[in-house]
Amino acid sequence: MLPGGQAIEGSVSTGKGPMRNEELTESIVESIVTLPTIPSIVTALNTVIAVPNSSAVDVANIISRDPSTATKVLRLANSAYYGLRSKVSTINHAVTMLGFNIVRNLVLTASILNVSTGANIAGLFEREKFWHHSLGVGVTARIVAREAFPEMRRQSDEFFICGLLHDLGKIILLQHLQPKFEEALLLSRDQALPLYEAEKISIGCTHADVGGLLAKRWNLSKEIIAAVAYHHDPAEAWQEQYRYVAVTHLSDFIARAKEIGVGGGANPRLAREAWDAVGLSKQKISAILTEIDNSLNLQELQMTP
Ligand SMILES: [Fe+2]
Ligand SMILES: [Fe+2]
Repeated sequence: MLPGGQAIEGSVSTGKGPMRNEELTESIVESIVTLPTIPSIVTALNTVIAVPNSSAVDVANIISRDPSTATKVLRLANSAYYGLRSKVSTINHAVTMLGFNIVRNLVLTASILNVSTGANIAGLFEREKFWHHSLGVGVTARIVAREAFPEMRRQSDEFFICGLLHDLGKIILLQHLQPKFEEALLLSRDQALPLYEAEKISIGCTHADVGGLLAKRWNLSKEIIAAVAYHHDPAEAWQEQYRYVAVTHLSDFIARAKEIGVGGGANPRLAREAWDAVGLSKQKISAILTEIDNSLNLQELQMTP
């Protein structure tokens, strides 16, 4: 039995299928919600990083122009998740220690957090608890990936970001479609439906559809796009990104079962094929659960300054 005693949903798919109805999903999402443009700081950063001779100072200068983002980046960089031996106190130092790509992902995360401030639906969706859920899934994804796929050690940051951003679409629904999103949250709670099923009824598409399309528009990596778009439906992902999707899916399930933060709505189902693909023994799962408890320090990463 898995953490929390929840059921595994039976499925025969192996994750080899193409992205189903991608164009249809895009047109539905576009008819329902206006997707925000990529934060200008991330665009500026992409431009500088694309120039071969750019230095850490060039990258740091862009981030430092936005104090709120800079503070969040420093806080994330100093968290245990990046394993730096000493504290970094300047953005320049963070860029030098972590490298351009990790810092760009931190900036992206921080900008999404900036966007999400101020939105709450009392008792149903609270951003601080949502942030804890996102962090919990990110931390779990990193640990699960390390245990399941040790040969992918160099991609551990990508797994973390997949987990951290997997529910990105909820922020968009909350901001741009709040009454319908609230309706979905209520339906999910009252009828014990997974939130994405309730969203299909009240909105017509899911937070995974919305988040996946946004990640694509913002030119995030294929792995992040797939993890966001298919974290509730791993069998739909391409084989190349399947490990990221399966790890994100399982980590979401574990974080829910451990009640790390609140993701909103009733618990999602666990897809059998994702569980099989990750292939962890019971002993490894219990070691992972202990490590999550030891490494997740939510107080350290309060979202608000
Ligand atoms: Fe989700
Ligand atoms: Fe989630």
